[in-house]
Formats: sequence, structure tokens, C-alpha cells
Amino acid sequence: MSDERTVSFTLNGSNRSCQIRPRITLADMLRDQFDCTGVHLGCEQGVCGACTVLVDGKTARSCLMLGVQAEGASIRTIEGLVGQGGGLHPVQQAFSAAHALQCGFCTPGMILAAVELLGENPAPSQAQIREALSGNLCRCTGYANIISAVGRAAEALRETQEDAR
Ligand code: FES
Ligand code: FES
Repeated sequence: MSDERTVSFTLNGSNRSCQIRPRITLADMLRDQFDCTGVHLGCEQGVCGACTVLVDGKTARSCLMLGVQAEGASIRTIEGLVGQGGGLHPVQQAFSAAHALQCGFCTPGMILAAVELLGENPAPSQAQIREALSGNLCRCTGYANIISAVGRAAEALRETQEDAR
């Protein structure tokens, strides 16, 4: 007898559902069943932040959540992040402009952590940016440019009075 469960949730603004075994992580469910390959898997034990997604607007480590825990939730991955005109989101634009990515492995998690921060605090200090990103590791050690990019994104969002979320 199959032990699969049906999980229904919102993914990047669309209603989705799938059949999944209870032991499958949210990260594997998003990558394998929904092609959200921007959900990167580094440590798979909650340390690196590469697998960060937004669950009901809050960052979560999708390697530490089970897919079945997504029931009824609103999940956002890097694939669902767009700017107002349908192009790059201002945080993505700032990462590009500030050369805030090298190999790009940490980038989706960094960007989603920044989106959460700027949605809650449109004018963060550098210390607050550092604190907000402190759970995300960059193996290329590009932290200075990443912090600078988040500051740039904050300025750009304030100028256009856009909500980061
Ligand atoms: Fe989830 Fe590292 S892969 S925290
Ligand atoms: Fe390579 Fe951060 S850009 S891990």
C-alpha cells in the first residue's frame, strides 16, 4: 500500500498539489516535482541557507521541512521573484549591479533572505543587513558585495516606494 499523501499549497502564486511520501523534504519536493532548481542543496542539515525559500513570507530552510508541512502554505522560491514590469526584482538587479555573486550557489537563498529583511525593514543599517544574512553562507566569500547589494536594493526600493515582497 502506498504511503503517499496529497499536499496542496500555493507555489509562486499558483495553486499546486502533488502526491508525496511523508519523509520527502520540501526542498526535494520543490526541485523534483516542480522544477524549482533554484532551491539549492548544500549541507542538507540546516547550516548553509542555500535551500532558503519563503513560507508564508518568512524564510525557511527547505531541507529541514517536510513536503507535507507545506499543506495550505504559500511558498515562494527564487523562480517566483519578479520585478514590477516582469523583469528582475530590484534585489536581483542590485546583486547584478554590485557583483554580488560569483558561482551563484548561495545567491537564491541570499536574495530571498534580503527580500524578507527589506519587506520588514526598508532602511536597514549595515549591521542589520549582516544580522539578517548571517544564516546564509557564501562559499565564495563574497560577503562585502552581497551586503553592499542589499543596501543598494534598499535605496532603490525606497526611491520607487516599492514593497520588497
Ligand atoms: Fe538547507 Fe544547507 S541545504 S541549510
Ligand atoms: Fe558562490 Fe556564494 S557566490 S557560494
